[in-house]
Amino acid sequence: MKSSITQGVKMLATGSAVPDLCINNELISNIVDTSDEWIFNRTGIKERRILSGSTSLIDIAALASIQALDKTNINALDLDLIILATSTPNDLFGSASQLQAKIGASRAIAFDITAACSGFLIAMVTAAQFIQNGSYNNVLVVGADVLSKWTDWSDRRTCILFGDGAGAAILQSCSLLENNILGFNLNTNGQKFDQLNIQYEYSKKEDLFSTGIKGNFKYITMNGKEVYKFAVSKVPQSIQCCLSSLNLSVKQINWLLLHQANERILNAVASRLMIPSEKVISNLSKYGNTSAASIPLALNEAIEDSRIQSGDLVVMSGFGAGLTWGTLILRWNA
Ligand code: COA
Repeated sequence: MKSSITQGVKMLATGSAVPDLCINNELISNIVDTSDEWIFNRTGIKERRILSGSTSLIDIAALASIQALDKTNINALDLDLIILATSTPNDLFGSASQLQAKIGASRAIAFDITAACSGFLIAMVTAAQFIQNGSYNNVLVVGADVLSKWTDWSDRRTCILFGDGAGAAILQSCSLLENNILGFNLNTNGQKFDQLNIQYEYSKKEDLFSTGIKGNFKYITMNGKEVYKFAVSKVPQSIQCCLSSLNLSVKQINWLLLHQANERILNAVASRLMIPSEKVISNLSKYGNTSAASIPLALNEAIEDSRIQSGDLVVMSGFGAGLTWGTLILRWNA
């Protein structure tokens, strides 16, 4: 089959933003029967940021996007495409167009991708296709979520886990030699969709046409133990599969950047792959699980504080509702 790849993809820069309001474990233990000790020991989380007042998903997504753009020599008008990975849109028809308007990227086509905690990775892979086949040159990929809006703050099994945030990456076409998005592996098991979801509940009430299809979305529900087992067994397989498709070995990994769901999951995946803990990027203690934002938020922090250096091999894996999981391998070049 003829390859449709005509261009390489280069990640130029990243950005991130979190809301100001910080909720620590002590505060949560005033609301539900839990403790800082329980939450920290079981998850590694100390505090999380929560959207408040009139600040919206779009505001934090725009801050992250502008921060990333400011590190490049292109501006919003140069963007051809914006992909917003979010499962908590402002508008069920999609929120990416509001982001496009807010940052003044009037030339760009903009759309949402809904894939929960794997959303950023899937959006990156989607963006890379548009660049590799020569359709677009400059693409903004954003992962942003405000799961606090869908959290049942009386459910101690879930309300301790999530926080809000946004992260962004600017991708640009380049020669095949300069390509730094090396490869990916994506997977879905829809049989297990009900292990972690925000269900739409049909109402029994009569509506205008007696269709019975009126209703509302419920809160996050999760089978914590099953999700934990799923992540620890499937993520290492995805990483191995992606590495071997590129003839790379685990030893060549400089940084393991997993979706920030639970410190014990990060440690278990690293230990299954025999990756030393110094190579594992974690910012969970400060933000909890920020869903689609977690990978770009952690990536941006590790680039900004110079942990990730030019030439480093960064293995990123996302996992979560769907159930969906996957890996993307980046050779970071500043
Ligand atoms: N504070 C105190 N006790 C709590 C608690 C809390 N916040 N949440 C649950 N418990 C209690 C349970 O009621 C249970 O008590 P019991 O033994 O008397 O019945 C006990 O702690 C153990 O509960 P369990 O659910 O078995 O805990 P766990 O070790 O599985 O940890 C999670 C719970 C949620 C931290 C863990 O399952 C997890 O992180 N799973 C993955 C979730 C995830 O990452 N989801 C997002 C993926 S994108």
